[in-house]
Amino acid sequence: FKVPVIDNEPMKNYAAGSEERKGLQAAVEKMLKSAPYEVPCVINGKEVKTGDIQSQPMPHDHVNPLCTYHAASSEVVNQAIEGALAARQSWEEIPWADKAAIFLKAADLIAGKYRYELMAATMLGQGKNAWQAEIDAAAELCDFLRFSVKYVEELYQQQPPRNSQGVWNRVEFRPLEGFVLAVTPFNFTAIGGNLVGAPAIVGNVLVWKPSPMATYSNYIVHKIFLEAGMPPSVIQFVPGNPPEVVKQCIDHKAFAGLHFTGSTQIFRKLWKDISNNLDIYRGYPRIVGETGGKNFHLYHSSAEIKSGVHQAIRAAFEYSGQKCSALSRCYVPSSLWNNGFKDQLVDETNKITIGPCTEWNHFTGPVIGRPAFDKITSIIEQAKKAGGEVIAGGEWDDSKGYFIKPTVIVTKDPKSISMTQEIFGPVLTVYVYEDSEYDNLPKLIEDTTEYALTGSIFAQERAALVSAAHKLRNAAGNFYINDKCTGAVVGQQPFGGARASGTNDKSGSIAIFSRFVSMRSIKENF
Ligand code: SER
Repeated sequence: FKVPVIDNEPMKNYAAGSEERKGLQAAVEKMLKSAPYEVPCVINGKEVKTGDIQSQPMPHDHVNPLCTYHAASSEVVNQAIEGALAARQSWEEIPWADKAAIFLKAADLIAGKYRYELMAATMLGQGKNAWQAEIDAAAELCDFLRFSVKYVEELYQQQPPRNSQGVWNRVEFRPLEGFVLAVTPFNFTAIGGNLVGAPAIVGNVLVWKPSPMATYSNYIVHKIFLEAGMPPSVIQFVPGNPPEVVKQCIDHKAFAGLHFTGSTQIFRKLWKDISNNLDIYRGYPRIVGETGGKNFHLYHSSAEIKSGVHQAIRAAFEYSGQKCSALSRCYVPSSLWNNGFKDQLVDETNKITIGPCTEWNHFTGPVIGRPAFDKITSIIEQAKKAGGEVIAGGEWDDSKGYFIKPTVIVTKDPKSISMTQEIFGPVLTVYVYEDSEYDNLPKLIEDTTEYALTGSIFAQERAALVSAAHKLRNAAGNFYINDKCTGAVVGQQPFGGARASGTNDKSGSIAIFSRFVSMRSIKENF
């Protein structure tokens, strides 16, 4: 078996008047008319309605839900776990080529038949505009599914053992013994698909606990997996009260792995809970997580201002700063700051339009929900009180949706709250340094936070670039040179951070799959 040539899904541009714009617009309108949808749990491929109804509001219009969903009861979670475990052996035994075909088929369904529906659910439910939804629910999700076939093929073929006279050595890549729990985030529909897809493709069975704020798009992804031929019990779709569902899974003796994207705090708590349960498990669970970030851009005095500012705007404010990789702190030398950087940054930020995804002319939209809105606005207030100067934005309106204007804060204190705390919203803090301080900046960046997800350096002078890039080698799992710190592409820049940002197992690379297999070495004498 050889995988077909795998390439990144080409992106559509949704220009006014184009067929794709019309197609997507029609899907959005249809979805708005039919909302709220009713989402069940899906256990062994069958819809289960528990009657415990919760809802997923639309961030741009919070009185109207996109869907209601049936939160899983503990009995349903138990059925999900037992159903997955019962399917484990038959899924493991399905030939690799047949498993791979399901993933390739799912990607084709997403790229074609379901593209606009899945994008519409991501736009209305998670507050993305069309282009951000295209990057996520169309391109990145297809890429994750297709590249996983390529990477697993490579994993299975890597390092074939040597044989000696009369000895036949081989290795087997078995799935984990038990089930994997996927706890998936609101901010990328693609991440949801990948957190279940990556363990499943190497033969694992899963319980999928989606983010309550991404229930509908994730439900569609699950349906697509089933339509592509995924055996119904391999991935159990279990929306519900996150702490309860997660605890019940982690407390089960057959728990074998966690695939997580979310906050550092919750990940640490789960890790501790898992550690406390070690005596009840058969093995040591694999724990894989991508968590917080406090991502940076460092500019040297030789950096090009125009593109440097433009990259900062995109990195900080696309999707209202809610990508894990989003830019949050900038270090700019005074020579650049006073010679155009500041003016262009303020000017471009003030030009950003913000509004609902149902209108087509906005660069960005709302933040995801009430807790996010309250946290972000409170940090802006605290930063102001602590002496930060708001030079753009700093206004908000939650009367209909959770809208916060892209905000730029300048601080004289590089350890102030908005320079250190993860915000996950459209807030960029700038520290202006004296040009002569440049050599000290890497240490300052390192010492400011415990995170290490993404970061960029901008410089035209090679020596300045090389020295800082070297000193910052542990400060970002994804490091960029003269480019923004967002937008890692599957198959091109494996993604993930270290330190408090995660286990750095790199989604979109071969590395992630080795975390979800358990190898057996076999030596046979003739
Ligand atoms: N891959 C995305 C990015 O790099 C984040 O998940 O922006």
